[in-house]
Amino acid sequence: MRSGLGARVFDVDGNEYVDLMCSYGPVVLGHRHPAVEAAVRAQAELADCQNGPGEAMVELAELLVSTVQHADWAMFAKNGTDATTTCCTIARAQTGRSRILVAKGAYHGAAPWCTPRLSGVTPADRANLGYYTFNDLESVTAAAREAGSDLAAIVVSPFKHDAGFDQELVDPAFARGLRELCTQAGAALILDDVRCGFRLHLGSSWEPIGVHPDLSAWSKAIANGHPLAAVLGSGAYRDAAASIFVTGSFWFAATAMAAAIATIGALRDEGAIEAMDRAGTTLRAGILEQAAARGIEITYTGPAAMPYLTFPGDRNYELGSTFAGAAIRAGLYLHPRHNWFISAAMTDADLAKALAATDEAFAAVQARQEGGIT
Ligand SMILES: Cc1ncc(COP(=O)(O)O)c(C=O)c1O
Repeated sequence: MRSGLGARVFDVDGNEYVDLMCSYGPVVLGHRHPAVEAAVRAQAELADCQNGPGEAMVELAELLVSTVQHADWAMFAKNGTDATTTCCTIARAQTGRSRILVAKGAYHGAAPWCTPRLSGVTPADRANLGYYTFNDLESVTAAAREAGSDLAAIVVSPFKHDAGFDQELVDPAFARGLRELCTQAGAALILDDVRCGFRLHLGSSWEPIGVHPDLSAWSKAIANGHPLAAVLGSGAYRDAAASIFVTGSFWFAATAMAAAIATIGALRDEGAIEAMDRAGTTLRAGILEQAAARGIEITYTGPAAMPYLTFPGDRNYELGSTFAGAAIRAGLYLHPRHNWFISAAMTDADLAKALAATDEAFAAVQARQEGGIT
């Protein structure tokens, strides 16, 4: 890729695309958002990587604590994996216990404890994990029973967004059940908001359903593409968070923190969450209409701003790949095995171009289904 502007990206051959991947999540306001880039430039004029954190870290921590209901403090890192891993370490420091429950198939990062690929991973790396099924409270209860008095935490994503599968929104009763179980067990409820954070709600993604985690992991969208991650937590976990040792050479770099302050301000001032939802709703309606008009069966899942499209029975993503390939050739950048992301920069013209491309993509799928074209 060569560059991006708003909801468009450009490759090295000069092709232009409407961007439905948003760098796999970090770009939330659109590429090169003026206020964010101005804040980064202003901070860079002062300094970025220094002997200690800059003022921006304190300002950002205060902004996050006042924006996210369950947060009484903030810590910073660089990647989502740093944040989820740090949440687990804090939960273990707090409880003095080892076992962490995760949903089967959920992605929480690329460290040995959570990477989906087992090459190079030892059994010891996974020894303290237990597994449950998303939205199935009984499976959580069973896994918690097995962990017994060693249960340190339950990690959960705001909805089920495992790559390559249809998405599943959370059942609020499941979220409430997890909260209750953790409270009763004295274990931490960790919300992995790395992918959804600040895309669905200006706060933790479970605030609309009234469920507050003890700890939450953030990255991707919080600085509109600048490298930053955060761990937020409730007051009860503050001492444990302060007791652990975590750091990185670039974790306190100030430009990404300045970007995050500007990003959160713009999300709020520009009504970005609503804009993403609106654009996503228009895209969904258009895509459903196109598929129906051609008699093509599709499954379109997830929140409007983070959708995913599959073709029932499409085992090797053959139709999905045909769809994505044709869409990309028609100027719409999307992925057949990963949910899409809609930025707040999406204009009516972007949506029109996107829907023109999906119509061509459905034509290619139809041709393939009819056996005419590969
Ligand atoms: C839900 C979730 N958690 C954690 C991560 C890991 O984040 P990172 O790739 O920044 O380490 C991701 C990345 O896609 C994610 O989607």
